[in-house]
Amino acid sequence: MNVRITGTGSALPEKILTNADIERLVDTSDEWITTRTGIKERRIAAAGEYTSTFAAEAARRALTMAGTHPEELDFIIIGTVTPDFPFPSTACLVQDLLGATNATAFDLSAACSGFLYGLSIAEKYLRAGAAQKILVIGAEVLSRIVDWQDRNTCVLFGDGAGAIVLEASESGHSLLTTHTFSNGSFWNLLYQPACGNRNTADDSRTIDERLFYLKMEGNEVFKHAVRGMEEAAIKALDANGLAPEDISLMIPHQANRRIIDATAKRLGLGPERLFTNLHRYGNTSSASIPIALDEANRQGVLRSDSTLLLVAFGGGLTYASALVKW
Ligand code: ACO
Repeated sequence: MNVRITGTGSALPEKILTNADIERLVDTSDEWITTRTGIKERRIAAAGEYTSTFAAEAARRALTMAGTHPEELDFIIIGTVTPDFPFPSTACLVQDLLGATNATAFDLSAACSGFLYGLSIAEKYLRAGAAQKILVIGAEVLSRIVDWQDRNTCVLFGDGAGAIVLEASESGHSLLTTHTFSNGSFWNLLYQPACGNRNTADDSRTIDERLFYLKMEGNEVFKHAVRGMEEAAIKALDANGLAPEDISLMIPHQANRRIIDATAKRLGLGPERLFTNLHRYGNTSSASIPIALDEANRQGVLRSDSTLLLVAFGGGLTYASALVKW
């Protein structure tokens, strides 16, 4: 059974936080943020907006493009590290918001690789004939787990969601392969210490040491990110008998301009074959690839027969890739 992407959608908060706004919160500068990351602004959820809010809106747009009714969905899979609640899953909340009454809904935790992990799981269900239509979403409200007193991390992240509808197809195909990888030895390079059962709210240390907020060793993450994205990309190319010059466009996880450029350089891909939007949205973790894919799609950047390389890296550590024939 072949697998086709039939719809894409994205949703972002209206509120824009610029580098100049962040200069008023911590000791930083637009010049530092721009040269070290490429980010100029990011979107921030307003009070009353949650991960499920953006996930459902992105999903509605993808479903409309696909011409799919929510009741036709067999599964809803959401990659997120910022669910509305630890449980129930944000996917169940989105199922309710959409009225997708026939779907099995679940979240998965693979940090910034969450969307590609979800795509990989959906691909297996569809190829096995166990489902016909699956909604895969990456959605985050990272602004609520970012420490707005920590200049090392608060400049990097933003909120938003992206979604795709995947369908089983006997004729055309668009998803060629997916690959996923994990390396748990470096779990503590990027993590949220509290909100699980190790550091609980009744322990004063949790509050005093601000353990509810994301912690990151940026330099180390940077090195692993470049190596992991290259490895995942090469695996995807080898599996399809392709070389870097066969790639029309790489849509990488939008973590940092320098990580993207270093990965592209190792693969021999010039800037004309990179799609980036992180200057406007920052790092939206699992949402970054589906948001970028939807923007590229709606801007007409994706031509019929384009070969797309999607590649991600995130906390876990996790990394993943997908090859798509548009
Ligand atoms: N403004 C000004 N100065 C800063 C800031 C800031 N916002 N943040 C750090 N600095 C300072 C540091 O304190 C340090 O100062 P010092 O030399 O006096 O100690 C100096 O800048 C250099 O710090 P480095 O950490 O070495 O800076 P680096 O060039 O590595 O850039 C960055 C930091 C941008 C975080 C980089 O390491 C990076 O992008 N890492 C990857 C992060 C990432 O992408 N994480 C997410 C990937 S996985 C996922 O998406 C969940």
